[in-house]
Amino acid sequence: MVQVLFVCLGNICRSPTAHGVFQAMVKAQGLDSVIGVDSAGTAAYHVGNPPDSRSAQVAARRGYDLSPLRARQAIEEDFSRFDYILAMDAENLRNLQALQPAGYQGHLGLFLDFASASEREVPDPYYGGDAGFEHVLDLVEAASEGLLAQIRKEL
Ligand code: 4NP
Repeated sequence: MVQVLFVCLGNICRSPTAHGVFQAMVKAQGLDSVIGVDSAGTAAYHVGNPPDSRSAQVAARRGYDLSPLRARQAIEEDFSRFDYILAMDAENLRNLQALQPAGYQGHLGLFLDFASASEREVPDPYYGGDAGFEHVLDLVEAASEGLLAQIRKEL
C-alpha cells in the first residue's frame, strides 16, 4: 500500500482539506485499498480538534466531508509509515526536515510540486477571510490530481 501524509501547521485547515479531497479522489478511482491517506500538524495547539468550521464548510460545498477528521501532531515515526510526506508550505517542510531520520527513503517535499500552479506554497488561511479558504481548496484539488496521477504510475 502507498501511504500519503499531508502536513500543515495546525492540522485544522490546509492538511485536513488535502486529506479529505485526496481521499475522495482515491475512493472515486477505486484505489482506497491501495492508497492510504492521513494528515498531521507540525504544532500541537489543536490536537484532538475537528477541522476549522470554515474549512469544513468550503469543503462541504464541493462535496468533501471533513467531519470525521481530528488533528494530531506529526511525529518521527511517521517517517517509517508514510511513503509521501507532503508539506503545505516551506516552514512546515523545514520543521519536517528537522524531524526526518537519516535514511528516509520516501518522498518529503512540497505538496504543490504536484500541481502546475504558479504558487509553490498553500497559504495559511487561518487569520484571513473566506476567499483564502476557497483558494486553499483550488490549490489542493489541483495538486491532488497531480499527486494521484504520479502515484498511479507507480502502482
Ligand atoms: P493550518 O492553519 O496550519 O492550515 O491548520 C492554521 C491553524 C491554526 C493556526 C495557524 C494556522 N494557529 O495559529 O492556531
